[in-house]
Amino acid sequence: MPEIVPLEWTGEALRILDQTKLPQEQAVTIARTYEQVLHAIRTMQVRGAPAIGIAGAYALVLAVKGVDTVDLRRIVSYLADAAKAIGDARPTAVNLRWAVDRMMTVTSRCHSVAELRQSLEAEAVAIHKEDVAGNRIMGALGADLLPKEGVVLTHCNAGALATGGYGTALGVIRAAWEKRKGLKVLVTETRPFLQGARLTAWELMQMGIPAELIVDSAAGSMMAKRQVGCVVVGADRIAANGDVANKIGTYSLAVLAHENGVPFYVAAPMSTVDISTPTGDQIPIEERSPDELTQWGDRLVVPKGMAVRNPAFDVTPHRYVTAIITERGIARPPYDEELRKLVGGATVAPSPVVAVEQGQGGHGG
Ligand code: MRU
Repeated sequence: MPEIVPLEWTGEALRILDQTKLPQEQAVTIARTYEQVLHAIRTMQVRGAPAIGIAGAYALVLAVKGVDTVDLRRIVSYLADAAKAIGDARPTAVNLRWAVDRMMTVTSRCHSVAELRQSLEAEAVAIHKEDVAGNRIMGALGADLLPKEGVVLTHCNAGALATGGYGTALGVIRAAWEKRKGLKVLVTETRPFLQGARLTAWELMQMGIPAELIVDSAAGSMMAKRQVGCVVVGADRIAANGDVANKIGTYSLAVLAHENGVPFYVAAPMSTVDISTPTGDQIPIEERSPDELTQWGDRLVVPKGMAVRNPAFDVTPHRYVTAIITERGIARPPYDEELRKLVGGATVAPSPVVAVEQGQGGHGG
């Protein structure tokens, strides 16, 4: 299976597979300064909670490389400003703040600028490697939850592109496919930025996993017709009580899944679990530019001057979530207890396979 490389650290620069150009073009942006990485995060050249966390960590490596001073205090204060700008770039995905905070704790252990440069680079590389390794474990654990055959619906893009590599929700689907489960994937378009139509569709085609694209609003009737076996999505932040912030439209899917008795799984690394946020009500929701709705490419498609709301994420209450798949184990309700155990370092025993009534079947890979 071809590996998609969303981010590559060269030692001097960060190579970013530009997700705004996919699937038409596989263009790479070479970021040599922290400002260039920040721009790539803001403009969604790199997107997906774990991927922007990793990019944010490398941004700090570039920031420290870009300053010509031996004054440790000055450089740490400059890094703190950079860390704030990076952390604020996309407020919902906690992985970004988590990664820059982890990088900043390294600064307190260093006694010289040379040591700081070296340690920050090592930490960013470790964050990147841990993410890919974690995704593979999550994939292996989550694959057992998926049915032997049937249709899995996923929303947005939680694949290799959204992470350091391999993917979370799509990693679970990929791992199940590699275990020769006969799956077909229903890919929601994911209005307005089309992460499903452009990115998830592209990844699944690269991997040769059977998939069909649907408009977001088709999901409900397909669930009602028993054409969806289960739903697997990623997350941008999981609160202490198990409420899940993810791409706008996830909440609607979860309610529809609940109404139709379809299991609803969330796959996310522990860096997405934020137990300092008690419930979903405290999760900040990013509002993005109206242009994402009003324009198709460069063309205006709504009446000029039309007012727009563009919340990029929503919160799914934990009562709609069947299980949360992490690299440390699978959490089930009560999530406040199970997530706290996982954050504390415990592993939760893998849950038994859930039997799912199936719609259309796929074929083994
Ligand atoms: O706005 P995006 O494209 O960054 O939103 C991404 C999502 O909502 C993903 O589902 C989430 O970050 C999980 S990615 C492994």
